[in-house]
Amino acid sequence: MAKFLIIGGGGREHAIGWRLHAEGHEVHAAPGNPGLAELGTNHPHPVGDPAALVELAKTLEVDLVVIGPEQPLVDGLADVMREAGVAVFGPSAAAARLEASKAESKTFMAAHGIPTARHVTVTSLDEGLAAVRTFEVPPVVKADGLAAGKGVTVAQTHEEAEDALRACLQGGAFGEAGATVVLEQRLTGQEVSFFVISDGTHAATLLPAQDHKRIGEGDTGPNTGGMGAYAPAPIFTDAVRAKTMARIVAPTLAGLRAQGRPFVGVLFVGLMIDDAGDPWVVEYNVRFGDPETQPLMLGLQAPLGETLLAAVDGTLTDQALPGTPAATVVMASAGYPASSHKGDRIEGLEAAGKTPGVTVFHAGTRGSAQGELETAGGRVLGVCASADALDEALRRAYAAIDQIRFDGMQFRRDIGRRASLV
Ligand SMILES: Nc1ncnc2c1ncn2[C@@H]1O[C@H](COP(=O)(O)OP(=O)(O)O)[C@@H](O)[C@H]1O
Ligand SMILES: [Mg+2]
Repeated sequence: MAKFLIIGGGGREHAIGWRLHAEGHEVHAAPGNPGLAELGTNHPHPVGDPAALVELAKTLEVDLVVIGPEQPLVDGLADVMREAGVAVFGPSAAAARLEASKAESKTFMAAHGIPTARHVTVTSLDEGLAAVRTFEVPPVVKADGLAAGKGVTVAQTHEEAEDALRACLQGGAFGEAGATVVLEQRLTGQEVSFFVISDGTHAATLLPAQDHKRIGEGDTGPNTGGMGAYAPAPIFTDAVRAKTMARIVAPTLAGLRAQGRPFVGVLFVGLMIDDAGDPWVVEYNVRFGDPETQPLMLGLQAPLGETLLAAVDGTLTDQALPGTPAATVVMASAGYPASSHKGDRIEGLEAAGKTPGVTVFHAGTRGSAQGELETAGGRVLGVCASADALDEALRRAYAAIDQIRFDGMQFRRDIGRRASLV
């Protein structure tokens, strides 16, 4: 058994910690959350303090550090850890550029013949306004840098695309992250989140997942960090999978290796599968995605700890890690995503957790002054369930939700519905 230190404190980190704990490993987290506290030890070190985190890893003599969120990866936390002799699962800052800059990732894909939407990168409004009109269908407008999932406008009209350009290049909507903008041809099809654990050369893949980004049922209303997710995604057939491995995963890993920045960590490939069953890259992320990680960890039928350790040792083998169907339904706080209410008391978690096949992951919870559990804003809980079939997993998740209560709670009743009817 090994000792792990997980950096981060959301639903993703709770799911990873839960999985490692279930496999018998010792789990530490920084800063963690109340869910992680139940299965391991939390340390109050902030995600943005590399020196303190290195010292913590050394003091604890952990076997592996697992970095959850993108910001510390982009800021080079994995490099600092490696230089200090600490084993770490997560890409270097150089490899994390794939997520840090959408413009650079498009250049990388073009250079390696990886299928993705046609694009134009601009840094001035004049350039941008001229480019918008070269797209017959209104283009998707993307702030180049990290924008916490808020930097993309899927414009319905050319005017809307122009407004989005003005917001970035004139209004400074995303600061430096929006000083460069990518305009992209709009793709159609179904989106799939595909996670690839790699040692830089080999690929161990998780089940294809789908998430639900909109706040409202039927995919309506504003975008959120994700209101639910499920796996496997039926659209991702063996044929689609084979194309994705050959056209996208293999050239991405080889391309990064050839550029002297091998990818050690989990590569999240955001895909659009078109009507012909051909995969196109929408974006890369360089870490586990939330909430998709929750069902993937709950349903995984292979040892996660060994896989992560093998990736860091460079001894991973190419494989499709098996898993059972699973789904997570996110419960968000009042006002989310426009605002988010804090301090509402959460009841019924214990009863919910007793539903067969169900685990409730903490995303935005905290202990109150009275030692009770309360909301800490945003997405609060991920009610996750696995079963032999997806519709049964969903039934279990919603049965568990019926036990949970907090003021202003919001959740979608239609998570996974399309897939469970296939
Ligand atoms: N070229 C595209 N065609 C159609 N939809 C897109 C395109 N690019 C992005 N989108 C939509 O916008 C969402 C967010 O874009 P993405 O590139 O994943 O950025 P981020 O996750 O950083 O906000 C995607 O999940 C997808 O729904
Ligand atoms: Mg995305």
